[in-house]
Amino acid sequence: MSLIRFDNTDWEDASSLQQTTAIKALEQGQLLLFPNLYQKLTETQYILLDPKCLAPNAKNISLKPNAALVDGAIADTAMQTQLTTLCRTYASHATRLVQQLLPSYSKALIPGRTSFRPAAVDQRKQSPRKDDRRLHVDAFPSSPNQGKRILRVFCNINPNGEPRIWRLGEPFPEVAKRFLPTIKAPFPGSANLLNTLGITKTKRSRYDHYMLHIHDTMKMDETYQRQVNYEEIALPALSTWIVFTDQVSHAAMSGQFMLEQTFYLPPHTMQRPELAPIHVLEHLLAQR
Ligand code: SIN
Ligand code: FE
Repeated sequence: MSLIRFDNTDWEDASSLQQTTAIKALEQGQLLLFPNLYQKLTETQYILLDPKCLAPNAKNISLKPNAALVDGAIADTAMQTQLTTLCRTYASHATRLVQQLLPSYSKALIPGRTSFRPAAVDQRKQSPRKDDRRLHVDAFPSSPNQGKRILRVFCNINPNGEPRIWRLGEPFPEVAKRFLPTIKAPFPGSANLLNTLGITKTKRSRYDHYMLHIHDTMKMDETYQRQVNYEEIALPALSTWIVFTDQVSHAAMSGQFMLEQTFYLPPHTMQRPELAPIHVLEHLLAQR
């Protein structure tokens, strides 16, 4: 079972049974779906549901924590301000949800970017490496995270009732066992070099090296993409879901208009840190 449903209708009404269930499920690689939770848009926010507000080449519009305005938008100042408010409101909703639902994480969670994704997934032209319609685990080339978990809260705000269609692939240990042996160790000094050249925002660790290569190798492997087992799920309009995207192999096949909040979590704050990708990889590398 790759998905577990919660029928909460409020961001703040999680019971202690739900809290325990949620953490256990997330850490085991399940997706938590809240079919009755979503961010209501105000009347004026509906005009923001338009892919034309995306800057050329931008995949989404995003707000860095504490930034004054969003990145990735071409819009007049009033519209930029509105997009910023949309993201900021969602950031605070998503934060309240994880605080209520995952209290043992809440002190350690580090907020990342908030994004608004107005483009239709199935019409996007992307290079294979950037194509999120191919199964992958998340790893970001310019933001190494040195083993921290990537926890994401998504909300489908499609106004026409269209679901977002995702595929969920094999469990992380299977992905790692398959692809890790194909990846060379990083060459000494490469992390320093990348950092000096300003390519990465902080130093790329060995962990980042392996995760990025797993991400790329999975996406580029046409045979794997065709043959691996996956489950296709419909994430309904006006629903919210939470998933560790560094662990859960996923692909977005169709859908339009989504909000997303990223959090980072140090693995030692998990109930079962051994399930974190960093420890799965360490274990496999130690056997080499
Ligand atoms: C992804 O994180 O791979 C994309 C998710 C989405 O756009 O639905
Ligand atoms: Fe992804």
